[in-house]
Amino acid sequence: MIEKSVEEALNRQINREFYSAYLYLAMSAYFESLNLKGFANWMRVQAQEELTHAMKIYDYVNERGGRVRLDAIEAPPVEWSSPLEAFEAAYEHEKKVTAMINDLVDLATAEKDHATVNMLQWFVAEQVEEESSVSDVVQKLKLAGDSPGALFMIDRELATRTFAPPTAAQGDGK
Ligand SMILES: [Fe+2]
Ligand SMILES: [Fe+2]
Repeated sequence: MIEKSVEEALNRQINREFYSAYLYLAMSAYFESLNLKGFANWMRVQAQEELTHAMKIYDYVNERGGRVRLDAIEAPPVEWSSPLEAFEAAYEHEKKVTAMINDLVDLATAEKDHATVNMLQWFVAEQVEEESSVSDVVQKLKLAGDSPGALFMIDRELATRTFAPPTAAQGDGK
């Protein structure tokens, strides 16, 4: 069984992962509206990954005999003032998620819940990657400045990202 406090915190994290998917899908729709198909693709793949994060915790709570409770998902913003502003917002969001994961590890550690600490290590590593990949795009956009040519080159590059469902080795909650 799982401690109530840990179960509640994991349920909150499930909600935040779904919110992350919602936020990135909203950003994808924003990029579609600018006809930046590569940026839209990148954000759409990001949204798909966030759904797998939510499901990983969902599966884990069930596996531990806990109860999943799905809450309302907050509505994300609709517009950003520029591609750079959207990616900066994504970066700020990922930093917040990292802090939440760290708080979860602290809580599970305090509750001596080693299994949850272990499960969360995947997320600790994932957040390092997430922050770094979003920050890469932020840096590129800053270098591009007001050059439409540079923006279209980044768009072409981001068009190549594909969604890879997590394998068992990466941990699929099983
Ligand atoms: Fe996530
Ligand atoms: Fe994320």
